[in-house]
Amino acid sequence: MRHYQTKILGTGIYLPKRILTNTDLEKMVETSDQWIVERTGIKERRICSPDGGEFPTDMAYHATQQALKMANLSPNVIDMILFGSVTPDMKLPNSASILQTKLGITNKCACLDLAAACSGFVYGLNMAHAMIQTGMIKTALVIGSEMLSREVNWKDRSICILFGDGCGVALVGRAPEGDSSAILSTYLGADGTGKEFFDQPIGGAVTPITAKHLVEESHYMKMKGGEMFKVATRTLAQCAKYVLDDAKMSLEQVDWLIPHQANLRIIETTGKILGIPENKVIINIQKYGNTSAATVPIAFHEAVTEGKIKRGDVVLLDAFGAGLTFGSTLLRY
Ligand code: UT7
Repeated sequence: MRHYQTKILGTGIYLPKRILTNTDLEKMVETSDQWIVERTGIKERRICSPDGGEFPTDMAYHATQQALKMANLSPNVIDMILFGSVTPDMKLPNSASILQTKLGITNKCACLDLAAACSGFVYGLNMAHAMIQTGMIKTALVIGSEMLSREVNWKDRSICILFGDGCGVALVGRAPEGDSSAILSTYLGADGTGKEFFDQPIGGAVTPITAKHLVEESHYMKMKGGEMFKVATRTLAQCAKYVLDDAKMSLEQVDWLIPHQANLRIIETTGKILGIPENKVIINIQKYGNTSAATVPIAFHEAVTEGKIKRGDVVLLDAFGAGLTFGSTLLRY
């Protein structure tokens, strides 16, 4: 069977207009700018308007317009939308289908939501690559878009300081003959035994939300931060090694590492375990906090538009999240 190369054709982002700073949080819970910066590296995050216009598919719509412009393509070339999110617009229909209509796509492209938490974008990218490589599709729109502000208990200082809202997308497609851009190696995995480290059991089919849950405020996301921290550093380093080994490449050949932005200390520790120089690691957590599936594509787009990542550079995407899910992508941009 013929194998095609996959190229990132265009990227885009949308960040909600409202900025919530650590100083703002000091007025909401017992915390301090100093504690948040020292323990997480986060200075501010973005929060979607609850009144509309910035819901996950709205953000994805704006980000996709940028990506289409960068790639000089029209929406109807998209064969599949892979929408990574744990905060979809609604339960039914899926966000990918809602976005298809918003984008004016009339080609009946396949639409799939991916609930792989913070690994959602990397899961989508690797799956899109598999389908492009085999010729099943030519072009995919891969998205990480989250409105976590809806799922955070704003009275719980252990959670609310960490998360933010935002969206990043990538248009990926078949690389022309002779093009050096390619996805070089992929890895995806999960370990369900760590499900209680980060969960939100109330509100699903097993336990629908009742008035009691609302009063007790037990329906929000819950995380064992220390446990997640330990597994995250180990797992992120392991995922990076898998794709490098698979591609028979060394870390010295990597120009940029884009790790999931959950905590600056996790990023730094992972970098140390791998032995990658700090100036090769893309970090923007100070501006946006943890936007789950959106952190990797937002960081990627910013690094491209700021002129850091250039065509031909080797980039390693590395993600980890609730599930526990994890994955990595090694690509030549
Ligand atoms: O996207 C993937 C999922 N996310 C992650 O993987 C995140 C992983 N975990 C983390 O980023 C860190 O564990 C946290 C930032 C969540 C917590 O940092 P930590 O250094 O592990 O702090 P801790 O939970 O051990 O708490 C230390 C102290 C506690 O006080 P005591 O018991 O020592 O008196 C907490 O009550 O800090 C207290 N604390 C706070 N103090 C001020 C917890 N949250 C806050 C806060 N402000 N916001």
